[in-house]
Amino acid sequence: MMTFRSWKAAVMVGLTLLLIIPLYQLRDYSTAGEYKQYIYDHISHYLNREGGVYNNTLYQQGAETTVHQQFNFSSPCENFPNTDGILLVMKTGATEAFDKLPTQLLTAMQCLPDFLLFSDLEQQIGKYHIYNVLDRVNDTIKSQQAEFKLYEAQQTCPVSQKDCTGSMKGAWDLDKYKFLNMVERAWDMRPNMEWYVFAEADTYVVWSNLVYWLRERAKPEEHPYVGSVALIKGFPFAHGGSGYVVSGAFMKKMIELIPNVAAKYDEKAPHECCGDLLISMALDEVGAKVKQAHPMFNGEKPNTLPYGPGHWCEPIFTMHHMNSEEVSAVWQYEQTRTKSERMQIKDLYHTFFAPHLVPYRKEWSNGADDTCYIAPDEAAQEDAGNHEKGRQKKEDEKNAVEKMAHQSPSACSLVCESAGLDINEQEFNALETHTERLSYIRGKYSEKDGDINFKKDRKCFQWKFQRNMCCTGKSFKLGAPKFEGETKNRHTSGWFVKGINDWVEARGECEQVAWRDPS
Ligand SMILES: *[C@@H]1O[C@H](CO)[C@@H](O)[C@H](O)[C@H]1NC(C)=O
Ligand SMILES: *[C@@H]1O[C@H](CO)[C@@H](O)[C@H](O)[C@H]1NC(C)=O
Ligand SMILES: *[C@@H]1O[C@H](CO)[C@@H](O)[C@H](O)[C@H]1NC(C)=O
Repeated sequence: MMTFRSWKAAVMVGLTLLLIIPLYQLRDYSTAGEYKQYIYDHISHYLNREGGVYNNTLYQQGAETTVHQQFNFSSPCENFPNTDGILLVMKTGATEAFDKLPTQLLTAMQCLPDFLLFSDLEQQIGKYHIYNVLDRVNDTIKSQQAEFKLYEAQQTCPVSQKDCTGSMKGAWDLDKYKFLNMVERAWDMRPNMEWYVFAEADTYVVWSNLVYWLRERAKPEEHPYVGSVALIKGFPFAHGGSGYVVSGAFMKKMIELIPNVAAKYDEKAPHECCGDLLISMALDEVGAKVKQAHPMFNGEKPNTLPYGPGHWCEPIFTMHHMNSEEVSAVWQYEQTRTKSERMQIKDLYHTFFAPHLVPYRKEWSNGADDTCYIAPDEAAQEDAGNHEKGRQKKEDEKNAVEKMAHQSPSACSLVCESAGLDINEQEFNALETHTERLSYIRGKYSEKDGDINFKKDRKCFQWKFQRNMCCTGKSFKLGAPKFEGETKNRHTSGWFVKGINDWVEARGECEQVAWRDPS
């Protein structure tokens, strides 16, 4: 049945056509294309409500210089790279699949002609099949290892997984069995690809950058296994959540040179922490050592990336811990960005951080922890965490500003404001209020106005204050809210806004994309 709205729309379309048809006859359209454009501009939105064009919500949130005002969704894959020979192998688990996959499938993955989804349960999500990659794990292991209780509960759940296993533990330990089983199964199902891209359901992949790099710059013979390197007991491996690539040639070697590679590593799994380490051990057996390509493969995301020196002109391939909303937002950015150059880390700053850069936020942690200033008394020292204590500046090495930093958020904020300035200890100590101190420091800062090197060499960008403790950071991160129960424990985080803006300006345009060769 037609609703009132659609009746209204139909009447409007009818009236519009009545108006346009005589207009078409009157106006001299030189080409059919021009007429089509006229129809598109003037009436297509009645036929197909928004016509796939919407106000861009990123633009509304302050990123006016980096994105277009409108989000045109009519051909999302138009600029997507050709991925022939490159296969995405995405790992998930039954406890998270339906939280994370739908947005992945609605965004970049709609443009991939093929991919494999592996999990610890056979499931279907719309037209996509999720394979259970643990079905061949030896029954002895399944009956002996506690994590397979979760696996069993998943297989026998008569309702939704959320209802059955929402409160069960074991997903993390189950995960490590997947890696080598995925290698075996991916090779069975899609053999002889040039590259296999391994990612997780909360990994964001910037396909334009990754595919360009795999085709034009990567060397599969020299560097067959590349990602963001982590170490466990001195053994290097590519961190799984950051995504990593393995050349087809070395996938083949693992399959052919290690008999029953999955079963062999299933037996090792109970004794090792994690599957990304296990796959590195298997690749090591066939002669492939992991190569580091950080920060291109990255474990952070727009609000946790440490922007600044080393994280600016570098291109980005992956991000991790991306929830559905974040995946969607970065995809929207990719779709609406005003620049056509390769996406660099600074672009994420300009879109997701700069519009929200303020002097401070209460009950917030920006993760500043490079140098800490803790009150020297015994109680405060005992109170501080080991991490912060390990990074604290000794009392006798602190300058006049730093000596006060642990007293309050505003005292803490002065550490970055005064960094690198010529502060006269006596003059500073004679000042009585924060306002006086701030204006003294700002006066000194303004003397550096024309000094581009001073601005470019900045090493203190942000701070975080919590009871008796001030920590500063040599990069700038947005961070996230952090709530502590008691008022006295609350975090306040801040950014030296002028120092950041001056650094960005002094740093200037990127002369070129700062590719990092795997090492
Ligand atoms: C889109 O944005 C424009 C300009 O800000 C505004 O006038 C218009 O009402 C918006 N349209 C919708 C559908 O929200
Ligand atoms: C949206 O994209 C389509 C296809 O690329 C194009 O034909 C159309 O003109 C675009 N619309 C707007 C408003 O940009
Ligand atoms: C499973 O493991 C047990 C114990 O290691 C072994 O005896 C058995 O043969 C294995 N089963 C299969 C099907 O490989």
